[in-house]
Amino acid sequence: IMLSRLYRPVLASCQKISQNAVRCASSVQPAKIGKKSEAIFEREDKFGAHNYAPLGVALNKGEGKKTRICFVWDVDLVLISTLNFLSAVIVQVKSQGHCHPKVIQALVDQASKLTLTSRAFYNDRLGEYEQYITNLFGYDKVLPMNTGVEGGETACKLARKWAYKVKGVPKNQAKIIFAEGNFWGRTLAAVSSSTDPSAYEDYGPYMPGFDMVPYNDLNALEQKLKDPNVCAYMVEPIQGEAGVVVPHDGYLKGVRDLCTKYNVLWIADEVQTGLARTGRRLAVDHENVKPDLLILGKALSGGVLPVSAVLANNEVMMTIRPGEHGSTYGGNPLACCVAMESLKVLEEEKLAENAERLGQVLRKELNELPKDRVKLVRGKGLLNAIVIDPEIDAGKVCKKLLLNGLLAKPTHGDIIRFAPPLVINDSQLNECIEIISSTIRSM
Ligand SMILES: Cc1ncc(COP(=O)(O)O)c(C=O)c1O
Repeated sequence: IMLSRLYRPVLASCQKISQNAVRCASSVQPAKIGKKSEAIFEREDKFGAHNYAPLGVALNKGEGKKTRICFVWDVDLVLISTLNFLSAVIVQVKSQGHCHPKVIQALVDQASKLTLTSRAFYNDRLGEYEQYITNLFGYDKVLPMNTGVEGGETACKLARKWAYKVKGVPKNQAKIIFAEGNFWGRTLAAVSSSTDPSAYEDYGPYMPGFDMVPYNDLNALEQKLKDPNVCAYMVEPIQGEAGVVVPHDGYLKGVRDLCTKYNVLWIADEVQTGLARTGRRLAVDHENVKPDLLILGKALSGGVLPVSAVLANNEVMMTIRPGEHGSTYGGNPLACCVAMESLKVLEEEKLAENAERLGQVLRKELNELPKDRVKLVRGKGLLNAIVIDPEIDAGKVCKKLLLNGLLAKPTHGDIIRFAPPLVINDSQLNECIEIISSTIRSM
């Protein structure tokens, strides 16, 4: 507490610097690694499991709304008027920008009244949130959970219940099909459906009743769906962790038609693609199709606390009865208020429209980069990636981007994802493009 008091004046001046940075669109400073940062790296290394490999910057303050940019500060309080192209963890959690005042206000207001109640009782916020989110997305019901992977688990459980209660699949024979290259989290069920050895290796035995199909291949999918024991196909409308893999136009419509034809539930994992990220409220809206089950997470809480949700109609949702599924924190009043406000911010600030427009600008500019360095640019809205020449290490590019004031993260060795907060504006985006361009040209 004493330290934070001592540093308050410094923080205030950092804030001024950041506001200036916005005014004179090109004032991003190179990041420096100070003593406090070093100490933080060492402590995390020593006491924390090594299940992540963070880039060398220790963040301790974020600012999104006032400056409409994604400034973050590091613990040494030197600059970092860093442009955040990661939107927190990997993507999307900070679509509304860091610490959006309306989301924070909703959090603070509710936190002083009631935070967690048992689902053994009603609370005055859950129904309000349920009504809001089901109306917004056009489903009969929502099942609230916390993390994205719990959303995926919930959807798989609902699909299996539906298989036995509605479709008439013989006991324990239900199959769920997943797309190769998918990523939906780290639980045993999630890694059982993964084709990435770093996700599944040494975690066996794996979940039975899961099968794989190549992504973006409707013929292969049709062959799988002919099996009468198949109850669901779970797929991301754009594969995020795989490196922003965009399927061909018409793929989602094809998935919808095939699932309807073979009486199979379509589960759309929109944890990463949903909530305005791809330039529409949902990525499936690009093809005007509606999945049977919709999984949301990440930006559903504006980056404030874990909130996820599964939406479905009664035929599916009502197969689960009291006591058959749930979570202590799922649907708690605090999360409900935060999620409702986060959704309202996306709608009121027209962040899907912003993502659509600026995404086009970003891809156009990225496509101007030398083809011997940037092999491919892909994405929709503000979910984008570049595939770089494997000779140029993507990790090294990201380190250099960081030194030049922009946070981005590599995936699969040669891919760099760009997923800035959706509140970004034109001049901030141009500044980011300038940094990316000069960094890549310099390598
Ligand atoms: C498409 C998709 N689904 C599910 C998840 C899992 O979300 P969480 O990390 O909140 O469990 C992720 C995480 O990146 C994801 O990208």
